[in-house]
Amino acid sequence: MLISCSEGGVVEDPAGVAHVHPQRLARYHRLTAAWPPTSLLQDTVKSRLPFGRRALDLGCGSGRDSQFLARSGFSVTAIDIASEAAAYFTKMDSVEFLQADIEQLSLPTAAYDVVNAAFCLPFLRAAVVPRVIRHIKAALRPRGVFVGHLFGDRYVGIGRNSSLALFTRAELTAFFSTMNMLRLVEVEREGVLADGTAAHWHRFDIAAQHV
Ligand SMILES: C[S@@+](CC[C@H](N)C(=O)[O-])C[C@H]1O[C@@H](n2cnc3c(N)ncnc32)[C@H](O)[C@@H]1O
Repeated sequence: MLISCSEGGVVEDPAGVAHVHPQRLARYHRLTAAWPPTSLLQDTVKSRLPFGRRALDLGCGSGRDSQFLARSGFSVTAIDIASEAAAYFTKMDSVEFLQADIEQLSLPTAAYDVVNAAFCLPFLRAAVVPRVIRHIKAALRPRGVFVGHLFGDRYVGIGRNSSLALFTRAELTAFFSTMNMLRLVEVEREGVLADGTAAHWHRFDIAAQHV
């Protein structure tokens, strides 16, 4: 295949990676390595997805979701921009790790039954996110499912970072207008990042099916 890229533990929400600071990113990967998979992915896999097929885990970090997908019977391609993430995948069966930038990815067409993007799309440039979502849709097989998160425009967290991709509900709905929205949950509340830093969470949990 050619690719030319908590809800668990004590912390309620996993994101908050300092994507511009490799050391903070590595710390985030260490902190979250033993976290359970996102409940969004677990729920979707249980209710919607066939077993024993192909999955793509974008912005996989230290691989909690990749492992879960592999344990659920998928053959997994896991992609992250961080080279140090590779170390978490050396002993994972059924998971191939690729270091790549999602913004530059060329994905195979109609190749995956699930594309997971947990807490990673907000770290892309906002202008490229609609294109990335179109590519994800094209990479899904018919009835394949996208599972992932976008941050809302009232999110305030990591580094008060103006480079995060933040969207309104209307914008997000438009991105997925050609897919069948299986789940769209808007979460807004005070919370913390993986390292305990306070954050105002505003995010969307999304599961959308290729029709
Ligand atoms: C908040 S972490 C989420 C990690 C993992 N999905 C999880 O839920 O534990 C965001 C991840 O996206 C990765 N990332 C950020 N920008 C990226 C890009 N342009 N291409 C690939 N990965 C990227 C980061 O390295 C980081 O591992």
